[in-house]
Amino acid sequence: MSKSTTIGFNVDRIRGQFPILQSDINNHRLVYFDNGATAQKPSEVIEAIESYYAESNANIHRGVHSLSQKATQMYEDARVKIQEYFNIAHSEEVIFTSGTTFSINLVAECFGKKYIQEGSEVIITTMEHHSNIVPWQMICEEKKATLKVVPISDKGELDLDSLYGMLSDKTAILSLTHVSNTLGTINPVKEIIQKAHEKNIPVLIDGAQAVPHMKVDVQDLDADFYAFSGHKMFGPTGIGVLYGKKKWLEDLPPYQGGGDMIKSVSFEKTEYNDLPHKFEAGTPNIAGGIGLGAAVDFMNRLDWKAVHEYENELLDYATAEISKIAGVRIIGQAREKASVLSFVIDGTHPYDIGTLLDQMGIAIRTGHHCTEPLMHRFEVPGTARASFAFYNTQEEVNTFINALNRAVKMLV
Ligand code: ALA
Repeated sequence: MSKSTTIGFNVDRIRGQFPILQSDINNHRLVYFDNGATAQKPSEVIEAIESYYAESNANIHRGVHSLSQKATQMYEDARVKIQEYFNIAHSEEVIFTSGTTFSINLVAECFGKKYIQEGSEVIITTMEHHSNIVPWQMICEEKKATLKVVPISDKGELDLDSLYGMLSDKTAILSLTHVSNTLGTINPVKEIIQKAHEKNIPVLIDGAQAVPHMKVDVQDLDADFYAFSGHKMFGPTGIGVLYGKKKWLEDLPPYQGGGDMIKSVSFEKTEYNDLPHKFEAGTPNIAGGIGLGAAVDFMNRLDWKAVHEYENELLDYATAEISKIAGVRIIGQAREKASVLSFVIDGTHPYDIGTLLDQMGIAIRTGHHCTEPLMHRFEVPGTARASFAFYNTQEEVNTFINALNRAVKMLV
């Protein structure tokens, strides 16, 4: 990419592309620190969805008519944009799904049907989101297999010796998160994948929280499967991706039956369609796919090195400032962290903190963040979590810290 086409890093210019950031909540300018739950959308994503419905709406892969062909082209162009952005070898390795949860369920079910059996082991980690726990529990229960869980340190880092010790010829698959949604920990997934591959163990990476913070290259990681959601990477909700190596996707049975995933159907026998359609039964989220393509265009113009440095500075600043508040405990202090700050404050409940901050226009998330086992590990009922994106500013962090101080005064 030439320098002239790169946005570089000018936070005001970036903020100007996100209309919602100019809005007020409870009579205060919105401070949006709930990016881990969902990211805000730039105008070009909003406009792509609107213009698709206004000018190009038709069903895809089905029509001889011009509008259907136009819509099909737009949807398939989005697939290629995703392929190129994530350095995916073949566009048919990009399976559109409704999001990370669907993507992981698809692998657990289809891989599990074929390769998990009685006595098999599936390895996950203590810091997984429920969507990377429950699908594996379900298939393990069905197949009488064992779910093994990698422990983590008090700082929130994986115990790698323990992980590597668990890899054995019983291991059917290893499934872990790239970035923890609750702790912010960035796991060394490239090294982990390499170790697993030395024992011929396939690896699924839950990339939902990684893709908004870094440029991911799936071939460099050598992941067998990589799952992510559109809405966390500045695209629409209801659309996501399962990347899978072709050799796996060709080998696995289909997930759902229906239109588009077949080549021919008779009452005696159905022949399944080629990739990617084999895993895309039914009318997909066409507008979502096109909107996600627009989000990729936006992300493609970002200078990711600058984004990384900017987000790190923001996190370091917020961490230093919050640490000055008496009784604060930061949950998740890994050396390598994405811009996620989970905390508890003595004598307060995260829910009360979240409610008071909302009154001051500040959006954070409170609760167990769909990681209940992780909350048990840290012996807390939940945390308050501020999760930053590259459009957040130091000024917003100051507003947040002032509001937090006021909230603590009211509560303690
Ligand atoms: N998994 C999302 C979060 O962490 C919803 O908030």
